[in-house]
Amino acid sequence: MPVPIIIDCDPGHDDAVAILLAAGDPAVDLLAITTVAGNQVVKKTTLNARRICTAAGITDVPIAAGCAQPLVQQLYVADDVHGDSGMDGPRFGEPTVDALPEHAVDLMYRILTGHPEPVTLVPTAPLTNIALLLTRYPDAAAHIREIVLMGGSTERGNRTPAAEFNVYVDPEAADIVFRSGVPVTMCGLNVTHRALATPDVLARLEGLGTELGRICVELMTFFASTYRRLWGFEAPPLHDPVAVARVIDPSIVHCVDASVVVELRGQHTRGATVVDLHQYLDRPVNAQVAVALDGEKFWDRVIAAVDTLGKRKG
Ligand code: RIB
Ligand code: CA
Repeated sequence: MPVPIIIDCDPGHDDAVAILLAAGDPAVDLLAITTVAGNQVVKKTTLNARRICTAAGITDVPIAAGCAQPLVQQLYVADDVHGDSGMDGPRFGEPTVDALPEHAVDLMYRILTGHPEPVTLVPTAPLTNIALLLTRYPDAAAHIREIVLMGGSTERGNRTPAAEFNVYVDPEAADIVFRSGVPVTMCGLNVTHRALATPDVLARLEGLGTELGRICVELMTFFASTYRRLWGFEAPPLHDPVAVARVIDPSIVHCVDASVVVELRGQHTRGATVVDLHQYLDRPVNAQVAVALDGEKFWDRVIAAVDTLGKRKG
Protein backbone atom coordinates (compact mmCIF):
# COMPACT_ATOMS: atom_id res chain seq x y z
CA MET A 1 0.00 0.00 0.00
CA PRO A 2 1.42 3.45 -0.90
CA VAL A 3 2.40 5.63 2.06
CA PRO A 4 0.19 8.75 2.28
CA ILE A 5 2.31 11.92 2.41
CA ILE A 6 2.06 15.70 2.36
CA ILE A 7 5.04 17.67 1.03
CA ASP A 8 5.66 21.08 2.64
CA CYS A 9 8.11 22.90 0.41
CA ASP A 10 9.68 26.12 -0.90
CA PRO A 11 10.30 25.46 -4.63
CA GLY A 12 13.19 25.70 -5.19
CA HIS A 13 14.91 23.55 -7.78
CA ASP A 14 15.33 20.55 -5.53
CA ASP A 15 11.86 20.92 -4.05
CA ALA A 16 10.51 20.68 -7.59
CA VAL A 17 12.24 17.34 -8.12
CA ALA A 18 10.98 16.17 -4.72
CA ILE A 19 7.43 16.91 -5.91
CA LEU A 20 8.04 14.93 -9.11
CA LEU A 21 9.44 11.97 -7.19
CA ALA A 22 6.49 11.99 -4.79
CA ALA A 23 3.92 12.28 -7.57
CA GLY A 24 5.56 9.78 -9.91
CA ASP A 25 6.61 6.96 -7.58
CA PRO A 26 3.95 4.34 -6.76
CA ALA A 27 5.27 3.77 -3.23
CA VAL A 28 3.80 7.06 -1.98
CA ASP A 29 0.41 8.73 -2.31
CA LEU A 30 0.90 12.50 -2.51
CA LEU A 31 -2.16 13.92 -0.76
CA ALA A 32 -1.21 17.61 -0.85
CA ILE A 33 1.53 20.14 -1.54
CA THR A 34 1.87 23.04 0.88
CA THR A 35 4.25 25.94 0.44
CA VAL A 36 6.13 28.26 2.75
CA ALA A 37 8.57 31.16 2.57
CA GLY A 38 12.17 30.03 2.33
CA ASN A 39 14.09 29.89 -0.92
CA GLN A 40 11.88 32.74 -2.01
CA VAL A 41 8.85 34.62 -0.68
CA VAL A 42 5.79 32.41 -0.34
CA LYS A 43 4.04 34.03 -3.30
CA LYS A 44 6.93 32.84 -5.53
CA THR A 45 7.32 29.41 -3.95
CA THR A 46 3.61 28.84 -4.44
CA LEU A 47 3.75 29.98 -8.07
CA ASN A 48 6.67 27.59 -8.58
CA ALA A 49 4.74 24.69 -7.08
CA ARG A 50 1.91 25.47 -9.50
CA ARG A 51 4.41 25.70 -12.37
CA ILE A 52 6.06 22.34 -11.76
CA CYS A 53 2.69 20.64 -11.23
CA THR A 54 1.45 22.15 -14.52
CA ALA A 55 4.58 21.01 -16.35
CA ALA A 56 4.25 17.48 -14.91
CA GLY A 57 0.50 17.16 -15.38
CA ILE A 58 -0.03 16.86 -11.62
CA THR A 59 -3.59 18.15 -11.57
CA ASP A 60 -5.18 16.15 -8.76
CA VAL A 61 -3.03 17.22 -5.81
CA PRO A 62 -4.28 20.25 -3.81
CA ILE A 63 -1.78 23.09 -3.33
CA ALA A 64 -2.06 25.67 -0.55
CA ALA A 65 0.21 28.53 0.49
CA GLY A 66 1.40 28.86 4.07
CA CYS A 67 3.45 31.17 6.23
CA ALA A 68 5.06 34.23 4.70
CA GLN A 69 7.41 34.83 7.64
CA PRO A 70 9.38 32.68 10.10
CA LEU A 71 7.96 32.48 13.63
CA VAL A 72 10.36 34.99 15.15
CA GLN A 73 13.17 36.34 12.97
CA GLN A 74 12.97 38.09 9.61
CA LEU A 75 12.88 36.06 6.39
CA TYR A 76 16.16 35.32 4.62
CA VAL A 77 15.54 34.07 1.05
CA ALA A 78 18.09 32.19 -1.06
CA ASP A 79 17.86 34.18 -4.30
CA ASP A 80 21.62 33.77 -4.63
CA VAL A 81 21.01 30.02 -4.93
CA HIS A 82 17.66 29.68 -6.69
CA GLY A 83 17.44 33.00 -8.54
CA ASP A 84 14.91 35.81 -8.39
CA SER A 85 11.99 33.56 -9.38
CA GLY A 86 13.08 30.90 -6.90
CA MET A 87 13.28 28.39 -9.76
CA ASP A 88 15.40 30.10 -12.45
CA GLY A 89 16.44 28.19 -15.56
CA PRO A 90 13.46 26.75 -17.44
CA ARG A 91 10.92 29.06 -19.09
CA PHE A 92 7.52 28.11 -17.65
CA GLY A 93 4.24 29.14 -19.25
CA GLU A 94 1.29 30.38 -17.24
CA PRO A 95 0.39 27.63 -14.73
CA THR A 96 -2.99 25.99 -15.21
CA VAL A 97 -2.89 24.33 -11.78
CA ASP A 98 -4.30 26.64 -9.12
CA ALA A 99 -3.70 26.94 -5.40
CA LEU A 100 -6.56 26.73 -2.90
CA PRO A 101 -7.51 29.89 -0.99
CA GLU A 102 -7.11 27.85 2.21
CA HIS A 103 -4.02 28.36 4.43
CA ALA A 104 -1.52 25.50 4.20
CA VAL A 105 -1.81 24.73 7.90
CA ASP A 106 -5.58 24.42 7.67
CA LEU A 107 -5.31 22.18 4.59
CA MET A 108 -2.79 19.96 6.35
CA TYR A 109 -5.05 19.68 9.41
CA ARG A 110 -8.13 18.95 7.29
CA ILE A 111 -6.33 16.20 5.39
CA LEU A 112 -4.70 14.72 8.50
CA THR A 113 -7.97 14.46 10.41
CA GLY A 114 -9.91 13.25 7.39
CA HIS A 115 -7.52 10.53 6.21
CA PRO A 116 -8.23 6.94 7.25
CA GLU A 117 -4.64 6.35 8.43
CA PRO A 118 -1.82 8.49 9.84
CA VAL A 119 -0.04 10.61 7.22
CA THR A 120 3.70 11.20 6.78
CA LEU A 121 4.73 14.85 6.55
CA VAL A 122 7.73 15.54 4.29
CA PRO A 123 8.97 19.10 4.89
CA THR A 124 11.70 20.22 2.48
CA ALA A 125 11.80 23.85 3.61
CA PRO A 126 11.88 25.98 6.76
CA LEU A 127 9.58 24.30 9.30
CA THR A 128 7.33 27.30 9.95
CA ASN A 129 4.13 25.65 8.65
CA ILE A 130 4.82 22.42 10.55
CA ALA A 131 5.49 24.21 13.82
CA LEU A 132 2.34 26.26 13.39
CA LEU A 133 0.32 23.11 12.64
CA LEU A 134 1.55 21.46 15.87
CA THR A 135 0.83 24.55 17.99
CA ARG A 136 -2.42 25.70 16.37
CA TYR A 137 -3.84 22.15 16.27
CA PRO A 138 -2.25 20.10 19.11
CA ASP A 139 -4.42 17.09 18.22
CA ALA A 140 -2.83 16.96 14.75
CA ALA A 141 0.15 15.03 16.14
CA ALA A 142 -1.98 11.93 16.68
CA HIS A 143 -2.70 11.85 12.94
CA ILE A 144 0.95 12.16 11.85
CA ARG A 145 2.78 8.88 11.17
CA GLU A 146 6.16 10.63 11.12
CA ILE A 147 7.91 13.76 9.92
CA VAL A 148 10.66 12.99 7.39
CA LEU A 149 12.39 16.30 6.76
CA MET A 150 15.22 17.65 4.68
CA GLY A 151 17.16 19.97 6.95
CA GLY A 152 20.00 20.34 9.38
CA SER A 153 23.31 18.55 9.26
CA THR A 154 25.45 16.30 11.43
CA GLU A 155 28.41 18.37 10.27
CA ARG A 156 28.71 21.94 8.90
CA GLY A 157 26.09 24.31 7.52
CA ASN A 158 25.46 25.91 4.16
CA ARG A 159 23.97 29.26 5.24
CA THR A 160 26.43 29.88 8.04
CA PRO A 161 29.38 27.70 8.94
CA ALA A 162 27.13 26.07 11.55
CA ALA A 163 23.59 26.19 10.17
CA GLU A 164 21.80 24.56 7.24
CA PHE A 165 19.41 26.86 5.37
CA ASN A 166 16.00 25.34 6.26
CA VAL A 167 16.79 25.31 9.97
CA TYR A 168 18.62 28.65 9.82
CA VAL A 169 15.63 30.50 8.34
CA ASP A 170 13.37 29.43 11.22
CA PRO A 171 15.28 27.89 14.13
CA GLU A 172 12.36 28.30 16.55
CA ALA A 173 10.14 26.28 14.23
CA ALA A 174 12.74 23.55 13.92
CA ASP A 175 13.11 23.49 17.72
CA ILE A 176 9.35 23.00 18.10
CA VAL A 177 9.38 20.12 15.62
CA PHE A 178 12.36 18.29 17.15
CA ARG A 179 10.87 18.68 20.66
CA SER A 180 7.30 17.78 19.59
CA GLY A 181 7.46 14.08 20.39
CA VAL A 182 6.31 13.26 16.86
CA PRO A 183 8.68 10.70 15.23
CA VAL A 184 11.18 12.73 13.21
CA THR A 185 13.67 11.61 10.58
CA MET A 186 16.29 14.21 9.66
CA CYS A 187 17.90 14.07 6.21
CA GLY A 188 20.70 16.57 6.57
CA LEU A 189 23.42 18.00 4.36
CA ASN A 190 25.84 15.29 5.47
CA VAL A 191 23.80 12.89 3.31
CA THR A 192 22.07 15.15 0.76
CA HIS A 193 25.44 16.41 -0.45
CA ARG A 194 25.91 12.91 -1.85
CA ALA A 195 22.79 13.15 -4.06
CA LEU A 196 24.73 14.77 -6.90
CA ALA A 197 23.06 15.40 -10.25
CA THR A 198 26.11 14.40 -12.27
CA PRO A 199 26.41 14.65 -16.07
CA ASP A 200 25.42 10.98 -16.19
CA VAL A 201 22.19 11.74 -14.35
CA LEU A 202 21.46 14.65 -16.68
CA ALA A 203 22.16 12.43 -19.71
CA ARG A 204 19.67 9.85 -18.41
CA LEU A 205 17.03 12.56 -17.94
CA GLU A 206 17.69 13.99 -21.40
CA GLY A 207 17.50 10.47 -22.78
CA LEU A 208 13.92 10.09 -21.55
CA GLY A 209 12.94 12.17 -24.57
CA THR A 210 10.11 13.95 -22.75
CA GLU A 211 9.39 17.64 -22.14
CA LEU A 212 9.48 16.98 -18.40
CA GLY A 213 12.87 15.31 -18.66
CA ARG A 214 14.15 18.37 -20.49
CA ILE A 215 12.74 20.71 -17.85
CA CYS A 216 14.53 18.71 -15.15
CA VAL A 217 17.79 19.03 -17.08
CA GLU A 218 17.31 22.80 -17.28
CA LEU A 219 16.51 22.99 -13.57
CA MET A 220 19.64 21.06 -12.68
CA THR A 221 21.79 22.97 -15.16
CA PHE A 222 20.90 26.24 -13.43
CA PHE A 223 21.38 24.63 -10.02
CA ALA A 224 24.77 23.33 -11.15
CA SER A 225 25.87 26.83 -12.12
CA THR A 226 24.96 28.07 -8.65
CA TYR A 227 26.73 25.27 -6.81
CA ARG A 228 29.83 25.67 -8.97
CA ARG A 229 29.91 29.45 -8.38
CA LEU A 230 29.14 29.46 -4.65
CA TRP A 231 30.67 26.23 -3.39
CA GLY A 232 32.86 24.85 -6.15
CA PHE A 233 30.73 21.72 -6.56
CA GLU A 234 31.27 19.77 -9.77
CA ALA A 235 27.58 18.73 -9.69
CA PRO A 236 24.60 20.09 -7.68
CA PRO A 237 23.24 18.15 -4.69
CA LEU A 238 19.51 17.48 -4.93
CA HIS A 239 18.72 17.79 -1.23
CA ASP A 240 14.93 17.56 -1.00
CA PRO A 241 14.18 14.36 -2.97
CA VAL A 242 16.32 12.47 -0.41
CA ALA A 243 13.59 12.95 2.20
CA VAL A 244 10.97 11.59 -0.21
CA ALA A 245 13.25 8.68 -1.12
CA ARG A 246 13.52 7.76 2.58
CA VAL A 247 9.73 7.32 2.67
CA ILE A 248 9.63 5.45 -0.66
CA ASP A 249 12.28 2.90 0.29
CA PRO A 250 14.02 3.29 3.67
CA SER A 251 16.94 1.21 2.41
CA ILE A 252 17.90 4.13 0.12
CA VAL A 253 18.67 6.37 3.13
CA HIS A 254 20.36 4.66 6.10
CA CYS A 255 19.50 6.27 9.44
CA VAL A 256 20.64 5.92 13.04
CA ASP A 257 18.94 6.98 16.29
CA ALA A 258 20.31 10.16 17.83
CA SER A 259 19.39 13.15 19.94
CA VAL A 260 19.06 16.36 17.94
CA VAL A 261 18.80 19.81 19.48
CA VAL A 262 18.54 23.13 17.67
CA GLU A 263 20.85 25.93 18.82
CA LEU A 264 18.76 29.09 19.35
CA ARG A 265 21.10 31.36 21.30
CA GLY A 266 24.60 30.82 19.93
CA GLN A 267 26.10 34.10 18.78
CA HIS A 268 27.82 32.27 15.91
CA THR A 269 25.89 29.03 15.85
CA ARG A 270 22.20 29.97 15.88
CA GLY A 271 20.29 27.50 13.69
CA ALA A 272 22.80 24.67 14.07
CA THR A 273 21.46 21.14 14.57
CA VAL A 274 23.53 19.60 17.33
CA VAL A 275 23.39 15.85 16.58
CA ASP A 276 24.75 13.55 19.28
CA LEU A 277 25.68 10.51 17.20
CA HIS A 278 27.83 9.02 19.98
CA GLN A 279 25.65 9.68 23.05
CA TYR A 280 28.21 12.06 24.57
CA LEU A 281 25.43 13.91 26.35
CA ASP A 282 22.67 12.45 28.43
CA ARG A 283 19.87 13.49 26.10
CA PRO A 284 16.96 11.32 24.96
CA VAL A 285 16.93 10.06 21.38
CA ASN A 286 14.37 12.21 19.52
CA ALA A 287 15.14 11.50 15.88
CA GLN A 288 16.40 9.12 13.27
CA VAL A 289 19.28 10.81 11.47
CA ALA A 290 20.36 9.98 7.92
CA VAL A 291 24.00 8.94 7.65
CA ALA A 292 24.27 7.19 4.27
CA LEU A 293 22.65 7.25 0.81
CA ASP A 294 22.38 4.55 -1.82
CA GLY A 295 22.95 6.89 -4.76
CA GLU A 296 22.22 4.31 -7.45
CA LYS A 297 18.83 3.37 -5.98
CA PHE A 298 18.09 7.06 -5.36
CA TRP A 299 18.65 8.21 -8.92
CA ASP A 300 16.91 5.15 -10.38
CA ARG A 301 13.75 6.12 -8.44
CA VAL A 302 14.00 9.82 -9.33
CA ILE A 303 14.50 9.15 -13.04
CA ALA A 304 11.77 6.49 -13.13
CA ALA A 305 9.32 8.95 -11.53
CA VAL A 306 10.16 11.68 -14.04
CA ASP A 307 9.77 9.11 -16.82
CA THR A 308 6.36 8.01 -15.54
CA LEU A 309 5.06 11.56 -15.30
CA GLY A 310 6.64 12.63 -18.58
CA LYS A 311 5.07 9.77 -20.55
CA ARG A 312 1.69 10.31 -18.86
CA LYS A 313 1.79 14.03 -19.75
CA GLY A 314 2.88 13.28 -23.30
O1 RIB B 1 19.88 23.47 2.61
C1 RIB B 1 19.16 22.92 1.53
C2 RIB B 1 17.70 23.24 1.66
O2 RIB B 1 17.53 24.64 1.57
C3 RIB B 1 16.86 22.66 0.51
O3 RIB B 1 15.57 22.38 0.99
C4 RIB B 1 16.81 23.76 -0.49
O4 RIB B 1 15.62 23.73 -1.29
C5 RIB B 1 16.75 24.96 0.42
O5 RIB B 1 15.41 25.14 0.81
CA1 CA C 1 13.64 23.29 -0.13
